[in-house]
Amino acid sequence: MDIKKDLIRITSEYLEDTLDYEKLLKTSKEYKNVLNTLSNENLDNEKGRNDIHFNNGKALGSVWAALCIDDLVRTRQFIRGIHKAIEEKKAKKETIHILYAGTGPFATLILPFILRYSKSEIKYTLLEINPLSFNVLQNVISKLGLEKHDIKFVNDDATKYKFDNGTPDIIVSETMQNALDKEQQVSIFYNLMSQGNTDTLFIPENITVSIDLKEKGIAVEKLQRKHYHKQNIIFELSKETMFTSEEIEFQPGKEPKFPKTETIIEKEKLVGFNELVLITEIQVFKDIKIILNESGLTTPKSIKDISENHQGAININSQYVIGTSPKFDLEIL
Ligand SMILES: C[S@@+](CC[C@H](N)C(=O)[O-])C[C@H]1O[C@@H](n2cnc3c(N)ncnc32)[C@H](O)[C@@H]1O
Repeated sequence: MDIKKDLIRITSEYLEDTLDYEKLLKTSKEYKNVLNTLSNENLDNEKGRNDIHFNNGKALGSVWAALCIDDLVRTRQFIRGIHKAIEEKKAKKETIHILYAGTGPFATLILPFILRYSKSEIKYTLLEINPLSFNVLQNVISKLGLEKHDIKFVNDDATKYKFDNGTPDIIVSETMQNALDKEQQVSIFYNLMSQGNTDTLFIPENITVSIDLKEKGIAVEKLQRKHYHKQNIIFELSKETMFTSEEIEFQPGKEPKFPKTETIIEKEKLVGFNELVLITEIQVFKDIKIILNESGLTTPKSIKDISENHQGAININSQYVIGTSPKFDLEIL
């Protein structure tokens, strides 16, 4: 059996234009099985489960990073977005360079392309902070006989890493949770965006977090985007925002400091709603998006039950703060 051919066949389902959940589930299981077999390493132990904590958020333990593949639509949309970005860049350049920050043990989102494109078409920098994931990844790439490709492995912190392999054309990182809680996506992108140029494509291209009102009386399983009414976008992570926002404070060697945002919701607007939530929306690349509840990354985060609110307008002060557990500091009055 040729494992490379097998993986190309399995992962081709991600690139199909029509979404078929059953096929996607089958693909994900098969993809995971092949990767687990190749790695030949049981990650489900104390070392594999340990997240690594930093003063600007945490990096997932190897077993959790490997499990991200099961977030089916997330995995599909990222792979599709990366594919689209590659095709766009390849139309203009002979050899392109992809930096993947936070590969996990399998470089899940990039492996389909290492298998599909030749050494002369794409070079890679694979960056991972977790030493266990990093070792497993090198082993998997070697077992697949892919060392002949132009791949630079870097066991480093993407929030501090300085480009040492030229400026990448595409930078990929999925190091986030819903509401940008706990993990390091924001610090990683700010570090890498500050070194990229206007042509560098970032995947995801744009992440927004908004404050929404949830309609009351809708069964959980029936909730759709239309039942949430957007009040204010309180945070946006994109190359454009990074380069144009005058309110974000940058100091060398420090994490960016984001402005406080005030959201006022008048009493009349609250009728018919019972909850305040944070909603995360992800534009992976161009028209490829991850919308509400399609992934664990886009589930709404409840911030206040307002079913008993009879006091009048609600005033929410919010600020994204990067610390040991990055999150929105919220004051709801
Ligand atoms: C959510 S997992 C995603 C794994 C895989 N890329 C995927 O999408 O299936 C995030 C990965 O990023 C790594 N990571 C988190 N923070 C990092 C940092 N500052 N520098 C490098 N890697 C980091 C974690 O160790 C973990 O392996």
